[in-house]
Parts: sequence; C-alpha cells; structure tokens
Amino acid sequence: MIHFVIVAFLVAVSTYGLYTFVLTNEILLPFQASEQAVFIDGLFSVHWFFIAFFYSLIVVFVLYSVVVFRRRPGDESDGEHFEGNTKLEIVWTVIPLIIVMGLSFAGAQTLADVERRDPQAIEVNVVASQWNWRFEYPDYGIITNELVLPKDQQILLHMRSEDVIHSFWVPEFRVKQDVLPGDEDFTRDLRVTPNEYGEYRLRCAELCGQLHYNMLADVRVVSVSEFAGWAEIAAADCEADDVTCGEKWATQFGCVACHSQDGTVIVGPTWSGLADSTVTLADGSTVLADADYLVNSILEPNAQVHEGFSEGIMPPNFAESLTTEQIDQLVAFIQSLK
Ligand code: CUA
Repeated sequence: MIHFVIVAFLVAVSTYGLYTFVLTNEILLPFQASEQAVFIDGLFSVHWFFIAFFYSLIVVFVLYSVVVFRRRPGDESDGEHFEGNTKLEIVWTVIPLIIVMGLSFAGAQTLADVERRDPQAIEVNVVASQWNWRFEYPDYGIITNELVLPKDQQILLHMRSEDVIHSFWVPEFRVKQDVLPGDEDFTRDLRVTPNEYGEYRLRCAELCGQLHYNMLADVRVVSVSEFAGWAEIAAADCEADDVTCGEKWATQFGCVACHSQDGTVIVGPTWSGLADSTVTLADGSTVLADADYLVNSILEPNAQVHEGFSEGIMPPNFAESLTTEQIDQLVAFIQSLK
C-alpha cells in the first residue's frame, strides 16, 4: 500500500510539473495572437496533459522499481512469476480507447472552430517563391512584401507557390499551412483572425533550399483605421523618381533576397558595381552590362548566365509579373549602384 501511495504521489508531481512547465513557458509556447490560437491551444493542452501523465506513469514506475526492488547482495532468489490478468488487460484496453475517441472528437471540433468562415473576411493572396513572400490584396490593389492585417477581422489567405513547397507559419497565430506549387487546384486557403496588436514574423516552415532559413516576412497587426491609412498609401502607384521606384520593386518582388547592394554574394550576383561593368559569362565570353543586358537578364535570366552561378536559379517569370515601366525603374535602380 505504501508503494502505491508513493508512486501515485510521484506520478502526480511529475505530471503537474511537465504540464505547467511547457504551457507557461514563453519560449516553448509563444503567446496567442489570434482567435484560432485559443482553440488550438485548448486542444494542445488536453493532449499535453495525457502525454505528461503517461510519460510520468511509465518513467516513475520503471525508476521506482529499479531503485526500490533492486536485487540485494546475497539474494539469489528469482522474482515471483505470474501470467495473465484479464481485469488489467480490459482496463488498459478500454481506458485508452475512451481517451482516443475523446481526442478524435475534440480534434474534429477544434478543426471546425479553426476553419469557421466569416463572409466578411478580407482576402489576401500569398505568393511564395525561393526565398520571398509576396502579398496581394486584390480588393485594395496592393502588392507588398509585408503582411499588414487589421485586428479582429478574419483574413482569408489564398496561398500558392511559384516553385517548390513552402509553408506559412506565424507561431503566435498557431495556424500553419503548406504552400504548394501548381495550378489553381493546388491553391491552399488559411483563415486567421488576429486579435492582438503587434509585430510578428512569418517564417517558412518547409525546408525549401539554400536560403530557407532566411525566408521571412514582417507581419503587423494594426487597428482598422491604421489599416485603411496604410492601404491607401500602399495602393498608390509609385510616384517618385525611377531609382526610388526601382528600389521599391526590388524589395516588393523579392530581388533583394538574392542580389545584394553591398558586394556580398547571396545567391545571385551582387548589384553593387554591376551596371556598365564587363561581365564574364558562364561560357567564358564577356559582355558589357549595359541597360539592354540588365533588361534581358530580368526577362530571360537563363539566356546569359553570369560566371560562377548556375542556370535556373532565378525565377524566369518576371516578364509576366513586372510591367515594362517597373523593369525600366529596376534597371535605373541597379544603375544607381554602379
Ligand atoms: Cu520556403 Cu523554406
């Protein structure tokens, strides 16, 4: 009887310790910043309770037996043998069965809560590519690389990739979704209702190549009026001079993720000192990096590959996503870095 009391006590202490350690630790579990996070954390804490309990049950039993019932010096007797215990077998079959059925029900309920639709949801198209996030707000005419969201408003994210599989993940929102390449059928939707002001970080959560670790985007949750103000400014066409506009497009379309402006080599050739220099191509020939060369390199990146870089790294679809004016402004920006 005393063994039973001690084991029960140790299991209770261990379960409580593990349970609260994880659920109250800001590093292991960031704070909640969306309505969906409340449902997900509710389900997580139920699962985590059972994990902590069964882990404690097994580890305490084993360690207690190893220490308390160890073989004493001089004791050569065998332990007591017994076979079969119908009552015990029924107990350890029925209890897990009930738990698993309960968790399935809770899981289905949580999924329904997380995917609940709000017909007023703001639609945002999320386009992932190596190694950049682009956000398009079709109702506002905005294309940006910073995700700005109004608080307490459901956001419907339509997500697709231009190359490999990426994954949309803002830890504080809890929801996460793989972003797939392919046609419309592969577009994935995700709903999130941010309910805490603040600045967050979107991280790609799928290993997607060399700069996967750096595939980040800023996420800002702001008031409805701040959002309206931001949308008005962000929607405006670029009215500034060509170089300033070019810099804006270089950031928005993710060029700067691969092309540095300070001479370092990230993935593609640096833009520092590129314009009007003599470039050696992969086939050994040389070419002057004039405006025509720069335009062609954006439109047909594989036609003249810079020495030291491989073919096929740069997305070949900028002819579709950029206007002629935007390309000219990009070139003006690159030329300003010579
Ligand atoms: Cu995109 Cu990892």
